[in-house]
Amino acid sequence: MDIYSTRKNNFEHIIKSQQFSTEFLHQFFYKVSQIQQQFKNPTGQVILRQKLANKILFNLFYEPSTRTRYSFAAAAHHMGMQVIGTENAKHFSSAVKGESIEDTIKVLCGYHPDAIVLRHHEIGAAERAAAVSTVPIINAGDGAGQHPTQALLDVYTIFNRLKTLNNLTVLIGGDLANGRTTRSLVYLLAKFKGTNFVFCSPEPLKMLPDLKEHLEENEVSYIEIFDDLHKVVGAADVVYWTRIQKERITDPELDIDALIQKFVIDKQVLSLMKPYSVLMHPLPRNREISVEVDDDIRAAYFEQASNGMYVRMALLESLLK
Ligand code: CP
Repeated sequence: MDIYSTRKNNFEHIIKSQQFSTEFLHQFFYKVSQIQQQFKNPTGQVILRQKLANKILFNLFYEPSTRTRYSFAAAAHHMGMQVIGTENAKHFSSAVKGESIEDTIKVLCGYHPDAIVLRHHEIGAAERAAAVSTVPIINAGDGAGQHPTQALLDVYTIFNRLKTLNNLTVLIGGDLANGRTTRSLVYLLAKFKGTNFVFCSPEPLKMLPDLKEHLEENEVSYIEIFDDLHKVVGAADVVYWTRIQKERITDPELDIDALIQKFVIDKQVLSLMKPYSVLMHPLPRNREISVEVDDDIRAAYFEQASNGMYVRMALLESLLK
């Protein structure tokens, strides 16, 4: 079953990065920048608050979240929507009693929300939810699967900073085996002309074969580095760094602290970066980016998180208007 449609960019559900065309992305980023400008003045905020008035968003989060949950809730409020959510659906919903995601979604649709934002611990949960839902499902992260709205805000931030999405060398590092933000970002950036990926990780946490096959099939260039990042960081236009996903690593033999020693971005690494590059991180971070680099002009991760709200406002409007 085709659960989402790319026809005329009218999406029914937001499930994975592959569903977006570059044509859609350019139009969408223009819409985001308009909303961001409009939000700067009080009159603009009043106009935005009318746009989705009387609509209802359900926030259904089975995994912890700060940015995604709050930015969706804030985006919905700023567009005039009502938000209903639970603190922790894994423990405070009937999932505890063994209810399946399909049954939960069918029940929630009976309460007539206009969209459901779903974060779940299982890969494919958003797709399963969409298959039974009568309202749009927005994948806010499905285990180690994908996080497409994060990729939208990441690419929007790159575009804002560098004013182009073509011919970029993008260094992506950290836990590439378990990171859903990196997977979604690679799928999205691979759509743009001349993207050149450098994957930099401890070998046990390297990028999974399916994604590399996707790049090979689409003739997108990439290399992998397993020792340290000093050799490659100077070539990157975008450095996208991520946390080791301890909660998803099942091998007790892996010494995570030892693994990340060579993959920490500090002032010394920063001194090797291009002056007009951009340093990104989906957050939350642990030790992999030192706090000492936060004030550098290239450090974009808090701006990235802030952009998330405008991206989600535009997304809600695109889905629900
Ligand atoms: N980047 C991100 O998804 O953050 P949260 O887990 O806090 O939502």
